[in-house]
Amino acid sequence: MTTTGTSSSRTTATGAPRPGGPGPLAGRTVSRIGYGAMQLERLRGDRSGAVALLRQAVELGVDHVDTAHFYGEGFVNGVIRDALRPEDGVLVVSKVGADPDPDGPLPLRPAQRPEELRASVEGNLTSLGVDQVPVVNLRRLDSGPGLRAEGDQVVDLDDQLAVMTAMRDEGKIGAIGLSSVTADGLLRALPAGIVCVQNAYSLVTREDEDMVGICAAEGIAWVPYFPLGGAFPGIPKVTEEPAVLAAARSLGSTPSQVGLAWLLQHTPNTLLIPGTADPDHLEANVAAGAISLDEATIASLDAVPSRSAALRFD
Ligand SMILES: NC(=O)c1ccc[n+]([C@@H]2O[C@H](COP(=O)([O-])OP(=O)(O)OC[C@H]3O[C@@H](n4cnc5c(N)ncnc54)[C@H](OP(=O)(O)O)[C@@H]3O)[C@@H](O)[C@H]2O)c1
Repeated sequence: MTTTGTSSSRTTATGAPRPGGPGPLAGRTVSRIGYGAMQLERLRGDRSGAVALLRQAVELGVDHVDTAHFYGEGFVNGVIRDALRPEDGVLVVSKVGADPDPDGPLPLRPAQRPEELRASVEGNLTSLGVDQVPVVNLRRLDSGPGLRAEGDQVVDLDDQLAVMTAMRDEGKIGAIGLSSVTADGLLRALPAGIVCVQNAYSLVTREDEDMVGICAAEGIAWVPYFPLGGAFPGIPKVTEEPAVLAAARSLGSTPSQVGLAWLLQHTPNTLLIPGTADPDHLEANVAAGAISLDEATIASLDAVPSRSAALRFD
């Protein structure tokens, strides 16, 4: 999971052209279309299929993979460990701040305390089989859909950054990102050296537009999660938006591709991590990097009103 192959701005270490072109992340160059590994949880019963999907992503030019030890309680990290080779030069980004809660509705519970963050980094090192996780996002519970902190899980950001920077000094993590954070939180954390921000954001859910601008100004990668609206109920889906459907029809592409292409064109510091467990969808998502939206199409998509995202448990 460290680079030993030779990547360039045009091609990955495996020699594949970069889908979406190159983008900077944590001092490295990665393809702007990466892969979010959370959906691999759904392939628990088909481990070889999960490994094959990751290999397919690498062959298609993906060299930025987002994960968490709590995805499938280590299952997803184990698949990454088995599927990726050092010469693939893939930048693996993980996150801490929650632990598995298999019987819960999400199924996660907050794990925000400094000692829990440290234990979670250790869990990632073990399940990924590495000495250092290249980037770790501190997943706060301050914004976006999902968990909120209560009781002793309400932890001051400075106390969390202290343990994250200590682990970076110790070499257990290469760089620090933030997730589900407010603009105030991001501004407070800047002195710690933040390389990326992961908040929920898509063409139809744009409450964090101010964060996009802060990240652009600070040279921080904006890595939206739920870029298509995710798989959970209650979150607006990009693929159901009439303006997206109309653009897809006129371009001869799919609605998902329009949603991803819009994100890429919206701001140059965006890196994408769409999630899928479907090989055809993976291929389509990577191909979205070649779609160019003209000014009229961009204007029609920019005019789509933003809706708020809240997880719904039926
Ligand atoms: N920082 C955080 O707190 C946080 C939270 C959530 C997620 N994440 C990360 O962000 C990544 C992306 O989020 P996500 O996976 O939840 O949501 P997403 O990428 O917005 O959407 C995934 C859903 O879209 C479907 N899909 C994907 N590509 C498609 C295509 N080409 N055509 C039709 N349907 C398609 C997938 O189903 P199929 O499998 O059938 O394709 C799945 O249901 C995750 O994988 C994870 O790594 C981070």
